Amino acid sequence: METLLNLPQGQFELQRLPKRKLEKLRAWDAADEYLLQYVSDNCNLSSATKLLIVNDGFGALAVALHAFIPVAISDSYLSRQATKLNLAANGLPEDSVKLKNSLDWPKQQVDLVLIKVPKTLALLEDQLIQLQPLLTAETKIIAAGMVKAMSSSVWKLMERYLGPTKPSLAKKKARLIFISFNIQKPLAENPYPVCFQLENTRFRICNHANVFSRESLDIGTRFLLQHLPKNTDAKDIVDLGCGNGIVGLMLAEYHTEATLYFVDESYMAVASAKENFQSAFERRQADFCVTDGLNEFETESMDLIVCNPPFHQQNTVGNQIALSMFKQSQRVLRKGGNLWVIGNRHLAYHIDLKKIFKSCNEIASNSKFVIWQVSK
Ligand SMILES: C[S@@+](CC[C@H](N)C(=O)[O-])C[C@H]1O[C@@H](n2cnc3c(N)ncnc32)[C@H](O)[C@@H]1O
Repeated sequence: METLLNLPQGQFELQRLPKRKLEKLRAWDAADEYLLQYVSDNCNLSSATKLLIVNDGFGALAVALHAFIPVAISDSYLSRQATKLNLAANGLPEDSVKLKNSLDWPKQQVDLVLIKVPKTLALLEDQLIQLQPLLTAETKIIAAGMVKAMSSSVWKLMERYLGPTKPSLAKKKARLIFISFNIQKPLAENPYPVCFQLENTRFRICNHANVFSRESLDIGTRFLLQHLPKNTDAKDIVDLGCGNGIVGLMLAEYHTEATLYFVDESYMAVASAKENFQSAFERRQADFCVTDGLNEFETESMDLIVCNPPFHQQNTVGNQIALSMFKQSQRVLRKGGNLWVIGNRHLAYHIDLKKIFKSCNEIASNSKFVIWQVSK
């Protein structure tokens, strides 16, 4: 796979994360190239320019513009790690980009904002609201994305929260949107986190903007909750890809003595899981970790892992992350430990699970979902 990106700003070596043996995808897209070409041709950047980058995929924008010491905000642990890795791969110091997560916005005003349009509209909405106080009438704002990801809702959100928009021509199926900030706009109230009552429980679930199924209980998760293991002798239990932590919350309810570990690569997900757990169990300790799957867990340290795996990374669909989670679970489970997985029937997770764990039991299924259990 091509890893060398040629730009007016220079030539950069860029890799995606997680690393895969036979990577077929590049660490940047045509929208990154279009945006960087436009910035080089039209924006007179200097060391005094206050530059903010939002949702950089794997660091292509931040690495190419490192000379201007940008602030880069992302909700993805993998994006942040990839930016660090790519800075190092190009011999650039880590502090040439100020990395921030989506819950930690800068306070100073900015001159140029570059936004990659995220997959989740709610995240974009939250980001536009967080941006408002950082903008002046002179701030240039440019959003970039692949045409297929820029629905009319994207434009509407930008006009609603910032001001008039103007499209570029499409180039290699990518487009830029130029947004003029209307300083007369009153600062908007942020609707996030949003909350709902978890059916048949005492739990109120609150979700930051980028959390999976933030408005209501997902139908797959509901099916999983109906079949979760109860009162087993598991002492250490992981909610892997926890989202708002509903699965771990119910596992904690069914395993009063166990320690729960909540893991997700989204900062907003782990923050939501932590807030939800702490309001559900005031005095109970648990572990909350923003990371890539089980990478940071010790070998043979957990008894039970429950996972509703992701089926996309940024805008790319696939079962690679799920497969890596299954392999990691094999390493991290103690002998006799169990992994429970729910998936859409067509994803056929049992094929990979059988390869890794030898045998695989179907716990429950309906027309859409199957729950599988494997033991180490
Ligand atoms: C289908 S959602 C499941 C959320 C929640 N467990 C539920 O059932 O409602 C998958 C979750 O995996 C997370 N995820 C994606 N890639 C990950 C990775 N590499 N490591 C950890 N979590 C990841 C996503 O952010 C998302 O919250």
